[in-house]
Amino acid sequence: MIQEFKNISSVKGELKLLGDKSVSHRSVMFSAMAKGESKIYNCLMSEDVLRTIAAFREMGCKITIDGDKITVIGKGINGLQKPEKELYLGNSGTTARLIVGILSAQSFSTKITGDPSLSSRPMKRIIDPLKLMGADIESKGGLLPLKINSVDSLKAIEYELPIASAQIKSCILLAALYSEEETVVIENKKSRNHTELMLNLKVVEEGSKRKIYSSSKYYPTNSEYIVPSDISTAAFFMVLTLLLPNSKLTLKNISLNDTRVGIISVLQKMGGDISICNIENINREKRGDIIVKSSNLVNIDIDSEVIPNIIDEIPILSIAGLFAEGNFKISNAFELRHKESDRINSVCKNLKLLGVEVKEYGDGFEIIGTPSDKQVLFDSYDDHRIAMSFSIFSLLLKQGGRVKDFDCVNISNPEFISQLDQICG
Ligand code: S3P
Repeated sequence: MIQEFKNISSVKGELKLLGDKSVSHRSVMFSAMAKGESKIYNCLMSEDVLRTIAAFREMGCKITIDGDKITVIGKGINGLQKPEKELYLGNSGTTARLIVGILSAQSFSTKITGDPSLSSRPMKRIIDPLKLMGADIESKGGLLPLKINSVDSLKAIEYELPIASAQIKSCILLAALYSEEETVVIENKKSRNHTELMLNLKVVEEGSKRKIYSSSKYYPTNSEYIVPSDISTAAFFMVLTLLLPNSKLTLKNISLNDTRVGIISVLQKMGGDISICNIENINREKRGDIIVKSSNLVNIDIDSEVIPNIIDEIPILSIAGLFAEGNFKISNAFELRHKESDRINSVCKNLKLLGVEVKEYGDGFEIIGTPSDKQVLFDSYDDHRIAMSFSIFSLLLKQGGRVKDFDCVNISNPEFISQLDQICG
């Protein structure tokens, strides 16, 4: 489906966004693994999270959905059942990477498959450490489909992450829950830490390294999860508000987890008027309201340390950078090539449609020129964050713009259009 966007003059008001995708996936997984009833509030009901829900239903968990309130009857440490058919995980990288950790330790074999995008994303990064733990995983070239064969047990490992990735880290930590001995995952660059926080894992900081410990003593028990709203979704509305004149927007109850707020600090350093209030800490996850006002932005040097923290926000950050003073440049972001699309290439190709001069590098890109006033059809590359970034870009262009294969926004935010309607008047 092609979605058309007309230029808008300002935004105002307040938005309550849907639940955070990373925390929603984990709330469902940990509830399904625990024994007995757990409740999840403000759970994101998007295509990706529905994949996680469907997978655990296939493995015998009763999961009831009532709007954004979910009730899960978990099966306990040895209770998951062999699914009758292969588990189809659609587009969801988080479901795939995390669930393989759990499936590796089961007494039954499973096969997982996904859509063309997920089937082209690297899985060797999780297969290698899981094999060191004794897992038996078959794949062709480290890609989906994966066949995960049953094993008697997994052993503990000490593993230094070669890539800053919360998905790899979480996969290992979840597999480690099935062993009495302690596994240690060492990270040199801090990636999102929801798994550690939600399972209350031991974390030791040694200089710039973080050591995260996991074993059966941390196996999840039934719980109540109150999911904060998604900061990665909030980023689109933050950038729109900053770039429009006479605009002010309050985003309610947004995740303010330290490993996710890089987008706020980068935009503030660029001159963005962003303030935070009503901070609360629930389930060890910080959240609060974000108030954003129109601002004049200036491009800055983006530190490599912050890249894992802003990895999902780089496409929309580049739109902010395009309208800011000076050139926007991102480097040390090779991981963008392994997301739902190759996001370096997707952003560069779309910008070039408007005659913007872009230099594409292996690990990033630089934007030099300004957009022409042509009406163009941007490609979402079936990637929800590319679709939303170029929707926001279209709203900012005098001539507006159109986005092809827009429906993929349902992966993370099925309410994107109605939220825009609310604030644009
Ligand atoms: C996620 C981790 C990130 C992020 C993804 C969600 C998670 O991926 O891009 O959208 O929930 O753990 P990587 O860990 O592979 O960078």
